[in-house]
Amino acid sequence: MESKIKDLNDKLALAHLGGGQDRIDKQHEKKKLTARERVLYLLDDGSFEEIGALVTHRTKDFGMDKQQFYGDGVVTGYGTVHGKLIYVFAQDFTVFGGSLSETHAEKICKVMDLAVKVGAPIIGLNDSGGARIQEGVRSLGGYADIFYRNVQASGVIPQISAIMGPCAGGAVYSPAMTDFTIMVQDTSYMFVTGPNVVKTVTNESVTSEELGGASTHSTKSGVAHITATNDVECLEDIKRLISYLPQNNTETTPLLPYDLKDEVRDELSAIIPDNANKPYDMHSVINGIIDIDSFYEIHKDYAENIVVGFARLGGRSVGIVANQPMYLAGVLDVDSSKKAARFVRFCDCFNIPLLVLEDVPGFLPGTDQEWRGIILHGAKLLYAFSEATVPRVTVITRKAYGGAYDVMNSKHIGADMNFAWPSAEIAVMGAKGAAEIIFKKEINKAEDKEAKWKEKEAEYAHHFANPYSAAERGFIDEVILPKDTRRKLIKAFAMLKDKKENGPKRKHGNIPL
Ligand code: HXC
Repeated sequence: MESKIKDLNDKLALAHLGGGQDRIDKQHEKKKLTARERVLYLLDDGSFEEIGALVTHRTKDFGMDKQQFYGDGVVTGYGTVHGKLIYVFAQDFTVFGGSLSETHAEKICKVMDLAVKVGAPIIGLNDSGGARIQEGVRSLGGYADIFYRNVQASGVIPQISAIMGPCAGGAVYSPAMTDFTIMVQDTSYMFVTGPNVVKTVTNESVTSEELGGASTHSTKSGVAHITATNDVECLEDIKRLISYLPQNNTETTPLLPYDLKDEVRDELSAIIPDNANKPYDMHSVINGIIDIDSFYEIHKDYAENIVVGFARLGGRSVGIVANQPMYLAGVLDVDSSKKAARFVRFCDCFNIPLLVLEDVPGFLPGTDQEWRGIILHGAKLLYAFSEATVPRVTVITRKAYGGAYDVMNSKHIGADMNFAWPSAEIAVMGAKGAAEIIFKKEINKAEDKEAKWKEKEAEYAHHFANPYSAAERGFIDEVILPKDTRRKLIKAFAMLKDKKENGPKRKHGNIPL
């Protein structure tokens, strides 16, 4: 018995060394933690339980039978974060470059299956040279087994991917199908085909960093939701993200204990500029409304004309979608529509209520947008809001113009409570443009055309550049003072907490992809 235990401990000691001390040092030299260090940092102290530590690969080709490492390049298991169960896999670059073999894939699938059966998030820490070249199609099959599980788990448990090293070729598609991708600056990259193939096929010269580094994916492609400056920050980001999420799609949104106070926030009254064409930072509205320091922004540097992220409101996790007047005047365009639609759908999957803060002059005009398919992509956001059954509340802070009024969580597409500040302007278009069109004849006939235009603009603004016409029809439930917004919202979300809404029976809808 004793000798058996000693044998096991020796084996585990080996497994803990991964590919060997020199390879671990190499990993540290690259400013990367090892797989095991990452797992231990992520999880609550002493909570990690490893699964499959003694697994080895089955390949005999290319002399692989003489190169065996316990764990086969991936550390898998479960533990807790903030006391809540999570499942984790961490690819170990010190073993065959973290490459994915048949057995490596089996280990990942095992924890994914457990996560779905039990109903707890799965976190993947990716650091891999891709398919294990010595295994050929068995490795490709292993990837496909993971992809299939990503889709089965989608909308059932939260799936989070951290990219903490290379992630290339078809391997990118597993993170892409998870809910959130976090990339580490300078040490991670993602691309379908690397710089060498790019050079051969298109004759473009590009570095790995330019092609698929964290800054590329967080600003240009939108593949990365969050960027971290190093491994530790990345793991902290995961922990923070998890704190806003329920464990699975049957749980309600996390709610921390909170006693309602007077909740008046005077600072909200001073944000909207007197001039309706002057920008202001929507972050100041968000921060003025939510629990202090609780905003966790997603896709911060991508499509900045819309702001999305998680926050707490009276202790309750909510998802926020807000137009950003500071950037492109807050218009909706292709990228912002896709960004917001994806976020809305995530919140809806996991019962996280939605708060929309609206100041939108409309959709961005132009050939670039039309040719890139603003019709299709704008429809994604309209569809996502319309199908969402979580509690949905909107506050119109200033402009709500044109089709964008409908799209941004209007009552007409199923929002539950819609508020407007007195500064709200709810109309088909801005007063100047509207006057030019509908009073064209009158303006042209006038002796002083400019004065007439101004007069008609004022007339139109008087009618529509306010929230009252919409409130008279019940499209706005209440016109509220900015300082009262937080209290109104806390009460509205508490009132809506047991909301149940069942749509028509169908296999699934057909969102315009
Ligand atoms: C087997 C691999 C490997 C792989 C790396 N290694 N990638 N072994 N299969 N895919 C091994 C190396 O041989 C080396 O072993 C060790 O890992 C570390 O690799 P290095 O090259 O020394 O590290 P580094 O210089 O940091 O370069 C990392 C790298 C490079 C950029 C990832 O290794 C690389 O280009 N690897 C191949 C990437 C690739 O083409 N993969 C297939 C992609 S296609 P030793 O023993 O020498 O230390 C794909 C399809 C998936 O993945 C499809 C899914 C549908």
